[in-house]
Amino acid sequence: MLADSPIWHPFTPYLSDTPILITKAKGCKLFTKEERAILDGISSWWVTLHEHAHEYITEAIYKQSQQLEQVIFAGFTHEQAQHLAQRLLSILPNKALSKVFFSDDGSTAVEVALKMTFQYFYNQDIHHKKKVIAFEGAYHGDTFGAMSVGERSPFNAPYVPYLFETKFIPLPNCENFSEVFETFCQLAHSQEVAAFIFEPLIQGAGGMRIYQAEYLDSLIQEAHKHGIVCIADEVMTGFGRTGELFASSQLQHQPDIFCLSKGLTGGFLPLGVTVCADFIYDAYRTDDFMKTFFHGHSFTANPLACAAANASLDLLLTEECYQKRKRIHKRHTQFLQELQRCSAVENVRCIGTIAAFDVKTAEYTSYVNEARGKLYAFFINRNVLLRPLGNVVYILPPYNISDDELDTIYDVCLDLAKNPNL
Ligand SMILES: Cc1ncc(COP(=O)(O)O)c(C=O)c1O
Repeated sequence: MLADSPIWHPFTPYLSDTPILITKAKGCKLFTKEERAILDGISSWWVTLHEHAHEYITEAIYKQSQQLEQVIFAGFTHEQAQHLAQRLLSILPNKALSKVFFSDDGSTAVEVALKMTFQYFYNQDIHHKKKVIAFEGAYHGDTFGAMSVGERSPFNAPYVPYLFETKFIPLPNCENFSEVFETFCQLAHSQEVAAFIFEPLIQGAGGMRIYQAEYLDSLIQEAHKHGIVCIADEVMTGFGRTGELFASSQLQHQPDIFCLSKGLTGGFLPLGVTVCADFIYDAYRTDDFMKTFFHGHSFTANPLACAAANASLDLLLTEECYQKRKRIHKRHTQFLQELQRCSAVENVRCIGTIAAFDVKTAEYTSYVNEARGKLYAFFINRNVLLRPLGNVVYILPPYNISDDELDTIYDVCLDLAKNPNL
């Protein structure tokens, strides 16, 4: 019984089923002690990039653990972090980036981006730029800054009195774009806006909502005219999930700050980075001690995590990995063509390696839609891990998933779409 366990699990209501005990993972499968194999269709919360227990990454972590497992990162540095920082700067699409700040996960990467931006203005004695613009439906993490720039929802309702104010604008589409742009311009003109934060091209937790690069491009261009710092939260989209290495690779106008985590270490160890443009760091280039960025975590740039990230990049940056992502996209597209013929689903959509669809219910589409529990049970009872966001089902697999494994996932989704009882 969950109630008997000493563990308080995340995002897990009191009256939940006992969690499944996993003793081993290999490839795209999770195994129980009884050798029940569960196919991981969501990369274990979007982190497992290539496959579980990939030998190349395992080996890199093992080797690193024999050499240097941890060192304080203030006053000291190490080769794995230096190598990783250089590589990230070379593959990120904005060529004006110059500094990589390490933290622990997606939320802290966002937290750092916000603090870095606020202090960028503070260090220049600019005190009127305090507002942040974000999209409705945004999710940027569960720490206070990250919650502040996320959609107000039942999840953060208890903390609303403690969150800073953010201006939310609708996610742009072909119907509302001129209105959204107008609102954005008015906010930007006020000269009170410090930052514009967004999940580029697709909102993840908000329901796998895809939007066009051209709209984001126009907003970034406008933001830059007013000195607003643009923050790309690529915590989910980074490292090839949208096909290109980064979702922002598809933009003409580049963000000034990138937040990365999840797939960064191939999904092996927690690590976050916030990468900023040189003009941001410029505000910190001073001999005034009080203008230091006073932020850091005990495990900043942990060498094991950095070694895992470097090994994961070795795999990611191969032609073979690119072809794997292309294959997944092609397979998703074919599957969705078949799925959209089923009347029980709507809004089938795909970007890169992410496929999603809405299950039609009497309730409107949202995370709190009650279909969530039934859908989750439907899949897990068939040994497929898909964790719907309300009535939104999505597939976000590790890149080494086989065609047969993809077929297994597609088949359960088609079964579901043909099941009139949901
Ligand atoms: C876009 C985005 N930003 C930030 C986060 C928070 O990351 P973490 O859960 O590692 O703190 C998430 C997590 O899902 C995310 O999807």
